[in-house]
Amino acid sequence: MAQVTLRKLVKMYDEVQAVRGIDLDIADKEFIVLVGPSGCGKSTTLRMIAGLEEINSGDIAIGGHIVNDVPPKDRDIAMVFQNYALYPHMNVYENMSFGLKLKRTPKDVIDGRVKQAAQILDITELLDRKPKQLSGGQRQRVAMGRAIVRDPKVFLFDEPLSNLDAKLRVQMRTEIKKVHQKVRTTTVYVTHDQVEAMTLADRVVVMNAGLIEQVGTPNELYHTPATKFVAGFIGSPAMNFLKCSLEQAAGALRVRVSDTLSFPVPADRTQRYTPHVGKANLLLGLRPEHITETRRHTEPNQHDFDMKIDVVEPMGMETLVYFSVGGVELCGRVNPNAGAAEATSMKLLADLNNMHLIDDATGKVL
Ligand SMILES: Nc1ncnc2c1ncn2[C@@H]1O[C@H](COP(=O)(O)OP(=O)(O)O)[C@@H](O)[C@H]1O
Ligand SMILES: [Mg+2]
Repeated sequence: MAQVTLRKLVKMYDEVQAVRGIDLDIADKEFIVLVGPSGCGKSTTLRMIAGLEEINSGDIAIGGHIVNDVPPKDRDIAMVFQNYALYPHMNVYENMSFGLKLKRTPKDVIDGRVKQAAQILDITELLDRKPKQLSGGQRQRVAMGRAIVRDPKVFLFDEPLSNLDAKLRVQMRTEIKKVHQKVRTTTVYVTHDQVEAMTLADRVVVMNAGLIEQVGTPNELYHTPATKFVAGFIGSPAMNFLKCSLEQAAGALRVRVSDTLSFPVPADRTQRYTPHVGKANLLLGLRPEHITETRRHTEPNQHDFDMKIDVVEPMGMETLVYFSVGGVELCGRVNPNAGAAEATSMKLLADLNNMHLIDDATGKVL
């Protein structure tokens, strides 16, 4: 097992800077997920770690050794792709053992490792089958088995679940997490799906346009995003952003979003936000779950307001309501029994304890 270190890593494709100088420290045994929109440089970063892509500048170290010039087969990594690329004419056992056979590993060692991996993945009954006799989820397991038997220093996954249907994806997500709990191999996992990232990762790395926006635990990213990009990317439905201004009166601050709608800023943020009073380009960020039906105020900084609801979307355990303020559509999450109805006014509650103040000019959360 090993830690992985990236230092000022750059990758150019002709003029396109796919990765623009990233630094990352991945601890031994850690499960790291790189997440971000399509084209942000996730696969390129992973392929550079694997040695499948040359780097233009910077360093990559695995287990404390710089591997910039080490060929992929000598990096002691195992990669699992979106298309599992199993050999169709070989059965599961042969598919899993093939890599070890090439390395002239003794037969009894191979046998022990294949059987142990099969047990971890619960595919012992499938060892004699050919890939075409397997379901998508089973093939995915075999592809993981092939990586596990090699007992590499690092696992690299590139969107391994994107070919599976939604239900299977959720199942396999849990499986991958269980496998990591058992084998504890350092893992770098790439996905564009923020839910997959949040549920799997010890720490999530949010990438945007070839750069790292923020690194943190799932809860850190969700509750204390550093940038507007992270705030908007993590969480579904996405965080609401409203143009706002900060006003000062009698030592207290208010955040104003329209002529008729403003809220007191929580007292514990007064000091932090005061330098931004009167500034242009401010945004108020509030997640949908912090706009609910009115209820007994259990904490300070919860404020009621009336709003005409435009669209109601029942989800079962909750109902999403959409309304607009100053031409911007906002989303709230209300109790299904709260009586939300389209084209009707509703008393809502905004929980300002969870507000974010963003400088829209720099994209930074203040
Ligand atoms: N082989 C290549 N040749 C030229 N451009 C590439 C190549 N591979 C990737 N790119 C470009 O590099 C950027 C990052 O791509 P990639 O790492 O595949 O993104 P992601 O995996 O995050 O979707 C994109 O702009 C993509 O078009
Ligand atoms: Mg990719």
